[in-house]
Formats: sequence, C-alpha cells, structure tokens
Amino acid sequence: EDFFRQGLSLAGKRVLITAGPTHEKIDPVRFLGNNSSGKMGFALAEEAVKRGAKVTLVAGPNHLEIPSGVEYISITSAQDLFEACKANFDQDAVIMAAAVADYTPAHVSAVKMKKQEGDLSIPMKRTTDILKWMGENKKGQKLIGFALETNDELDNARLKLKKKKLDVIVLNSLQDKGAGFKGDTNKITILDANNNLQEFELKSKSDVASDILNKLEELL
Ligand code: CTP
Ligand code: CA
Repeated sequence: EDFFRQGLSLAGKRVLITAGPTHEKIDPVRFLGNNSSGKMGFALAEEAVKRGAKVTLVAGPNHLEIPSGVEYISITSAQDLFEACKANFDQDAVIMAAAVADYTPAHVSAVKMKKQEGDLSIPMKRTTDILKWMGENKKGQKLIGFALETNDELDNARLKLKKKKLDVIVLNSLQDKGAGFKGDTNKITILDANNNLQEFELKSKSDVASDILNKLEELL
C-alpha cells in the first residue's frame, strides 16, 4: 500500500479532519444540535485519502458512509471532540470542519425532564474553543478552520483566522443558494494568514474539498 502511495501529493502526510455536528445532552432523551450534515468533512477525508494522506476523521452524529481508508473516531459532544482532538493532535495538518456547539447545558438531568407550567430556560455554559486551543498549542501543525457567517463575512473570517492563529480559514457563504450545511454543493472563499484571498464558484463538496487540499499542499 505504501508503495502505491509514493508519488501522491499528500503521501506520508498525517491529517486530522473533524466533521459533523455536536450533540449536547439535556437529559436522557434530549439534546441541542445543529444542521451540519458532515458532508464537507467527509468529502475532505475522502479526497485526502485519495492523495495519499493518513487521515484521522473525528465526526459527530451523521448518516454518512465512512470513507474507506480513514481512521474513524465517532464523538457526540463538543467535550468529546476536544478530547479526541487532543489525543490525536500529533499531525502535519488539522482541518476543522465540524460545527462545534459554543454552549452546552450547565447540568445534565439524570432523569427525563417533566414539563411544568410556564416557560423553560436552560442554563448554558461555554464549551472549549478547540481550534483556539490548537492555535495556542500547535507544534508546526498547519491549521485550517471554517467560518460560517451571515454578515460582515470577510471581516469576521479574518478575525477568526487571527484569533485562533490559523494558517487558513475557509469562509462558507450562507448567502448563496446551494451553499452551506446540508446540501451537496458549497461556495467558499479561502483566506490565508498572508491576507491572500481566493473566491470559488458554487461546486460539489468533493470539488470544494480538492480546492481546500490544493491550498493545504501549498502550505506543507
Ligand atoms: N470551533 C472549535 N471549537 C468551538 C467552536 C468552533 O474548534 N468550540 C471551530 C469550528 O470548527 C470552525 C471555527 O472554529 O472551524 C469557527 O467556528 P465558528 O462557529 O464559525 O466561529 P466561533 O469562533 O465559534 O465564533 P461565532 O460562532 O461566535 O461566530
Ligand atoms: Ca460557533
């Protein structure tokens, strides 16, 4: 197998890819989640394997087929994802495509919550910003993050790139029909730490994955 991988553009490179949503538990039968399908991260994993990389794919709840050739780690919560990322941080690059919850219930009820008269509010606490942790603790790993923005897109993405000490941020535009969380297509802009900007057309997620990995290959 290693013989055949020689000559491929990511041969010998180790890449950690995260994908999908996180589910934050409220009680034994309920959680808070988000609309991420995991498709973008899975497409990246598949394309990276094709290019010869050794891929660890850490993914939240999804309905996708595990790409062959990846080491697959299934997680549920943001805290699980953080632990899996820390344990697998020794990589050449990390691509953080997971949609990580920013808040999690401060307490998980051990029993199913019963409804009461009146409204309900659930106290929430912050989760760890995993990419920020990576930016602060990296030892040469190239870091690629995603930013999903609805307004002031470029400014917000640049701010995240800087705050999290990333090499690249992939801006996902929600303004375009056919782009974003659920579908099979995506429209991205790639920004790097040297203020280079590449805007791409609406494409299939596997073609978007190729554009992102081309950028990664420039960095490695
Ligand atoms: N991210 C992370 N850990 C978190 C939250 C986000 O690693 N707890 C990562 C995401 O995987 C993504 C990047 O940070 O690659 C940006 O996520 P995003 O939600 O767009 O930005 P936030 O920094 O969470 O800021 P906000 O949601 O307020 O826009
Ligand atoms: Ca967020």
